Amino acid sequence: MDKARQRLEHLWRRGRDFLGTELAIMGGAMSWISERNLVAAISNGGGFGVLACGSMSPALLAEEIHATQERTRKPFGVNLITLHPDLDALIDVCGEMQVGHIVLAGGLPPSSAIKRAKDTGAKVICFAPAPVAAKKLLRSGADALVIEGTEAGGHIGPVATSVLAQEILPIIDEVPVFVAGGIGRGEAVVSYLEMGASGCQLGTRFVCATECVAHPKFKQAFIRAAARDAIPSVQVDPQFPVIPVRALGNNATKKFVLFQMEVVQRVRSGEIDQKEAQLRIEHFWAGALKRAVIDGDVENGSVMAGQSVGLVTREQATAEILGELVDQAVAALAAREGPVSTMVKC
Ligand SMILES: Cc1cc2nc3c(=O)[nH]c(=O)nc-3n(C[C@H](O)[C@H](O)[C@H](O)COP(=O)(O)O)c2cc1C
Repeated sequence: MDKARQRLEHLWRRGRDFLGTELAIMGGAMSWISERNLVAAISNGGGFGVLACGSMSPALLAEEIHATQERTRKPFGVNLITLHPDLDALIDVCGEMQVGHIVLAGGLPPSSAIKRAKDTGAKVICFAPAPVAAKKLLRSGADALVIEGTEAGGHIGPVATSVLAQEILPIIDEVPVFVAGGIGRGEAVVSYLEMGASGCQLGTRFVCATECVAHPKFKQAFIRAAARDAIPSVQVDPQFPVIPVRALGNNATKKFVLFQMEVVQRVRSGEIDQKEAQLRIEHFWAGALKRAVIDGDVENGSVMAGQSVGLVTREQATAEILGELVDQAVAALAAREGPVSTMVKC
């Protein structure tokens, strides 16, 4: 086991050095969920917590960063959505509060945003949805990349994590690359490390952490769900594009299909124009994640979840989740040394 543990240290050393952590495991930012408590718990547990800024104002973000700094002295990052109208001010807040790592999410960030974030002294992490984008982000100055496959919870791209990993890990050596999407156990972490990743990012697996403030009904929905229940949002007409989001199927996901059909019908009958229709479709989900996470309305809100929800079976302390991931990773590496490879049950 000691040899296996050493091997793990070797495999994720670059990721640990980059994040400044004991484990190269990032807790992916989740709006409404990745707030002070969960983020501090992940960082205190040796991982790397990431605050989700979501639609927060610069003042609110400053408050949240401060509250997190009060709960942990360990490194953590801040995730900013590139489309936020106050992006520059949010970056400046991170700079003033000496945030060490800024994650720019929600579409390819412009070079100017990457530069502004780097000028604060922070390391900048960006999402690369394809090899070409990965190369472009490196030219723009990204210090690390996250590649997130379609198995993930929340807003998703079309390509599986396993394929993105094969496309991107062999061609990017300049910066650390973290793999996300569908990872729920340590064996999977090891596999991506062996393929050249510097670490992994998990979101879904941390939702049922005891320290997570999500409503008990939100957590219960995760515990009950199977992998196949986490489905991408349905688009009924290619003329009215829908940004795909993976969430547990419920009343809201069913209503969304009917709503789109109704809106498309109204355009066809000349009642509303295409622009108005697109706006109505986009607004359907406004406030829906908060409704589920905070209010506990898991039927009419958006229960964003990745396919690894099938591996979430109970509420557990964050430290226990991280400990399990490490134990599974070490056991997987130990098994590689022996004749038989088995998965540890925990
Ligand atoms: C409920 C939920 C909310 C999320 N919100 C965000 C977000 O605000 N910003 C972001 O960059 N990613 C968001 N994500 C994606 C996570 O940061 C993470 O990359 C993803 O969950 C990893 O895949 P996994 O769910 O398979 O572990 C969200 C995911 C979930 C499940």
